[in-house]
This record gives sequence, C-alpha cells and structure tokens, in this order.
Amino acid sequence: MSEANTKKATLKLNGQEIELPIYSGTLGPDVIDVKDVLASGHFTFDPGFMATASCESKITYIDGNAGILLHRGYPIDQLATKTDYLETCYLLLNGELPTPEQKKEFDSQVRNHTMVHDQVSRFFNGFRRDAHPMAIMVGVVGALSAFYHNNLDLDDVNHREITAIRLIAKVPTLAAWSYKYTVGQPFIYPRNDLDYAENFLHMMFATPADRDYKVNPILAKAMDRIFTLHADHEQNASTSTVRLAGSTGANPYACISAGIAALWGPAHGGANEAVLKMLDEIGSVENVAPFMEKVKTKEVKLMGFGHRVYKNFDPRAKVMKETCDEVLGALGINDPQLELAMELERIALSDEYFIKRNLYPNVDFYSGIILKAIGIPTSMFTVIFALARTIGWITHWLEMQSTAHKIGRPRQLYTGETQRDIQR
Ligand code: CMC
Repeated sequence: MSEANTKKATLKLNGQEIELPIYSGTLGPDVIDVKDVLASGHFTFDPGFMATASCESKITYIDGNAGILLHRGYPIDQLATKTDYLETCYLLLNGELPTPEQKKEFDSQVRNHTMVHDQVSRFFNGFRRDAHPMAIMVGVVGALSAFYHNNLDLDDVNHREITAIRLIAKVPTLAAWSYKYTVGQPFIYPRNDLDYAENFLHMMFATPADRDYKVNPILAKAMDRIFTLHADHEQNASTSTVRLAGSTGANPYACISAGIAALWGPAHGGANEAVLKMLDEIGSVENVAPFMEKVKTKEVKLMGFGHRVYKNFDPRAKVMKETCDEVLGALGINDPQLELAMELERIALSDEYFIKRNLYPNVDFYSGIILKAIGIPTSMFTVIFALARTIGWITHWLEMQSTAHKIGRPRQLYTGETQRDIQR
C-alpha cells in the first residue's frame, strides 16, 4: 500500500473532526482514504463511482482531460504502432516489454494453449443457433471453470500465470466458434503456424471446403491493432466486475465470464455494435440532422460518443481513425456508412450541445467501421472487444491475487420501508 502523505484531509462531522490520510500515486490525483469515516457511523456515497478509487494499481494510467492512456507507462499510440498485440499482453502481464527471446517464448506458450478440451466444443450445442455470440461467450468461458477448477490453487503463482496464458490463448478459439456455431458452419481448429490475429481470422473465415483460404495481411494487421487498442482500460465497469468477483476467491474463468457479461451492455463494449445499428437506422446523410435533434431532446443517445473519463478526446479513437482510413484505403472500400459517420462526427464536434457536454467520438465509433470492412458481422463486434480485453481483465485479476485484498463489499443509502411487523 502507498505511504500516506504528510497532507491530510479533515472532515468536520457533527462537531467532531476526523483526520483522513491522503495517498499519492506516481501520476494522477491524490486519493483521500475514507475508511475512518465508518467509525463515525457514516458511509461515503458515490453512486456510479464518479470520485472513487477502488484499488491501487500499477497497470494502466488514464488522464481523461489530457487524453492520455498509458500501459505500464507506455502511451497507447506507441504501443499500437510499434508493438504487436502479444507484446502488449506481455507488457501488461510482466510490467516490461519482452526482449526478442522473451517474445519468442511467450508467443510459443500462447500458441501451445490455443486448443480447448474437446468436450467444450459439445457445450455449444446447448445454445440455440440464433443465440447472440456474447451470450455464448458468457456461457463457454464460464464453463472453462469446470475444466480447470481442481488444479487451480489461487495461492500458487504458477497456477495463476498458466491461467492467464490459457485465457489469452483459448478465448480467440471460443470467440470464433461462437460465430461459426451461429452460422451453422463447422468449427475451424486453431493453427499454431499463424500469428495471433491471423489465427483468429482463419478460425472465423476458413471453411473445410476452402483449403487454400489465406488471411489477408492488411486485415490481420488491422485486427491486431484493434486488439491492442482494446487491451486494457484501467478500472472500467467490466474490469471492476472481474475484480469484484475475484475478490471472493471465485474461479478466474468465472470472473472473466462476469467481465464479459458486464462488457456486453451498450454503455460499455456493446457500443461498437450499437454504432453500426445506429448508422443503419439513420440510413443516409440527409437524415443526420433530424437524428441529432432527437439526440438533443434525449430521445436517443449518440452511440460511440462520450466517455466517463475522457473529456477532450479518446486517444484510442485517434489511432483507430487512422487505422480505419488505412484499412478502407488499402481495401479500396468506399463505404457510404463512413460518409454518414463522418457527418455525425462533424456535427457533433461543432455543435454547442455536444461541446458543452464534452462529447467526443470514442474508440467504438471507429472500431465498428473497421470491423465491418474486415468482414466481421455486427453481432461479433463486442465479442472481439471481449477477446482483446481478456488480457486486461486477467492482468487486473493477477495483480489483485498477488497482493493483500479484502472482499469487495460496498454499502448503501437505504431508502426502503423501516422495520414493521407482518399484520396477520
Ligand atoms: N449521446 C448523447 N448525449 C450523451 C451521450 C451520448 N452518447 N453521452 C452522454 N451524454 C449526455 C448526457 O445525456 C448528459 O447530459 P445532461 O448533462 O444534459 O444530463 C451528459 O452528456 C453527461 O452524461 P453522463 O451520462 O452523465 O456521462 P457518463 O460519464 O455517466 O456516461 C457513457 C459515459 C460512455 C456511458 C455515455 O457517454 C454513453 O452512454 N455513451 C454512448 C455509449 C458508448 O459509446 N459507450 C462506449 C464507451 S468507450 C468503450 C468502453 O470503454 O466501453
């Protein structure tokens, strides 16, 4: 735990003074330790955790006003353009970028765990064919708990580390299969001669009938970058969910499944799918202005805009937009939805309503457009976010497991009935 500063906060409460310690991190605002408020018979109240630091962490730093996102100190734009996804995974897990030997060893470790137990493949049959792939992911990733429960000692660092590798390696297989299942195609097994993004695209799009299927390197590069840009994002809703579930000592596969469930919502990872649905609904550029009026009267939300933390710009969105231009240019795609998206962006960035509320395009505004260009069906967008975020979730889980932690157990402001007796 960080050392308390010499600075202290004083809370005056009913004539009593409570001194509260203040801690400083290496970057970012100081935090006030409010634990001692409890002894006075009060709770602190912060619905939505707007001003609450829920833990101490060394993994990711965000300065929302300056649009800064650092993983282990490195800016996201540098990671996205100078490393590949597995190097970023290594960095998140280990705190440093890998040497060439370490990279080779890590890549090979991940490649060797891409298969899933054959029994897992049968588990898919319990789902309806029209199930949303995210529903399947919540189920099958959670079901891995049944395969790796007995040999998982949470106090054993080796067991914890192999769990991280298994998850990074197996989630792409399960993600691709959740798509194959819904379109009624046979599962394609992982190929360890391909790199991480290529292997995923291969499992998504190859079929037994097309023996010569080759992954387009432009698409693999774009996919890898999308993975990197989504790798981690501090204590967001799904990561906090993973930490909360993990604080109880629950099986890590179950914790990641809880994270996937939390990510699914349209206010979080589900936004990338929602952006494309919104563009479909708007239909054409002349409908943008009336749609924006509906946004202003709060009938609808502008999906892919706004962020709890970023109030100037989302640094991931900047790189994503560049990638979007690159991919569409390289593929020669002239997507009318892109024109629509640009018109939405233009209006939002110049309109007082959006400026006043600091509403800027977030990462999901552009990722949906690239994913569509890659040929990924809309229902898989959030699954891809979950695949990429698995490294962030498991890194936070590992950090929590390797340090002293309490079960997460918030309290409440109770506004229900006072005690009463049953009148019978
Ligand atoms: N469209 C229209 N108005 C909005 C939007 C939006 N997307 N987002 C916020 N506002 C308005 C909101 O109505 C409120 O207005 P007022 O002050 O008049 O009441 C004001 O902006 C502040 O909004 P808030 O709901 O207090 O902001 P928040 O920090 O609680 O919510 C958010 C953040 C991301 C949930 C929200 O901006 C949103 O729902 N955005 C659309 C969904 C989206 O794109 N999510 C992906 C986030 S990035 C990927 C990820 O990390 O998950």
